[in-house]
Amino acid sequence: MNFFSNYLNANPNALFLAPMEEVTDTSFRRICKSMGADVLTSEFVSSEALIRDVQKSFDKMAFDETERPFGIQIFGHDETSLVKAAQVAEEQQPDFIDINWGCPVKKVVAKGAGAAILRDIPKMVACTKAVVDAVKLPVSVKTRLGWDMNDKPIVSAAEQLQDVGIQAITIHGRTRSQIYSGVADWTLIGEVKKNPRMKIPVIGNGDIASGDKALLFKERYGVDALMIGRAAIGNPWIFKEIKCAFEKKTFLIPTLEERINILLKHLRASIPLKNEKKACLEIRRHYAGYFKGVSNFKKVRLELMKVNSLQEIEEILMKFGVPLGTQYGFEYSTRYF
Ligand SMILES: Cc1cc2nc3c(=O)[nH]c(=O)nc-3n(C[C@H](O)[C@H](O)[C@H](O)COP(=O)(O)O)c2cc1C
Repeated sequence: MNFFSNYLNANPNALFLAPMEEVTDTSFRRICKSMGADVLTSEFVSSEALIRDVQKSFDKMAFDETERPFGIQIFGHDETSLVKAAQVAEEQQPDFIDINWGCPVKKVVAKGAGAAILRDIPKMVACTKAVVDAVKLPVSVKTRLGWDMNDKPIVSAAEQLQDVGIQAITIHGRTRSQIYSGVADWTLIGEVKKNPRMKIPVIGNGDIASGDKALLFKERYGVDALMIGRAAIGNPWIFKEIKCAFEKKTFLIPTLEERINILLKHLRASIPLKNEKKACLEIRRHYAGYFKGVSNFKKVRLELMKVNSLQEIEEILMKFGVPLGTQYGFEYSTRYF
């Protein structure tokens, strides 16, 4: 019984929201879910911090029942720590544990975690097996094509990871050395999927930013599902857009009023989770997306970038002359959601 195969058989158009540190907290994840994201994952949680009982790591694992199917993502470089962290994560009762073998960030890679493991596939496989054996929950892996353009072991690595019991693999079509530069290359993702020995779902990731591209890439590379990251920042309706493309329906871009209401719901929900200042700082990353294509927004964005309280943000947004919704829930009284 494969958890992901079962889920994807029942939901063939399912979309995964990519884990993104300081972006995909529970408030944003729930916004994305309400707009068509199906499978959600926590931001990555350090296995070392988790076993040291660091509160921030526990905060990152928190999720709402409405977020299911939900996975907790862990990263680390040491087998024993990864195993213990996976067991702690399992106690939170998510639906699956995801291991991050793809993070390219220097401070992670320097310790041998994240994408660093792509230079040591036997260790990647051994650590993954230890986690699979230590927990009852399904385990998945998220990784990249390889270390650099001369070293892309993903086809063989995916097969070996499947053999030690992972139930799904997500592949970002870049190498570690590319970080986020260039264009994601989906050719090798397609080859992993085409490998006749591969039976577990393959989830494709990298540069999907429109309904048309999602449809094209899902069909062209034959992946079981797509994972969307940066295109959702300030643009959570991307999931709705992609679902419309899959179902050959017309997608209508949200109105300015709808966007402001979505943004405020997102911000208000994140304030109790962090604190007002941090929530207001983190929402800044989303402004450009939320107001893409809105004329005269540049000046307003500059004002928004200077303030750190909900009241100030609301006052600035009022200048658009749009009535602001006051509900704190996640239901949408709009035309498209
Ligand atoms: C701000 C940011 C934070 C990220 N944090 C994580 C993370 O915690 N775990 C992870 O597996 N990938 C992380 N990623 C990578 C994304 O999950 C995804 O693989 C990558 O952005 C490529 O997909 P996209 O082109 O759809 O954005 C992060 C990416 C960004 C931009």
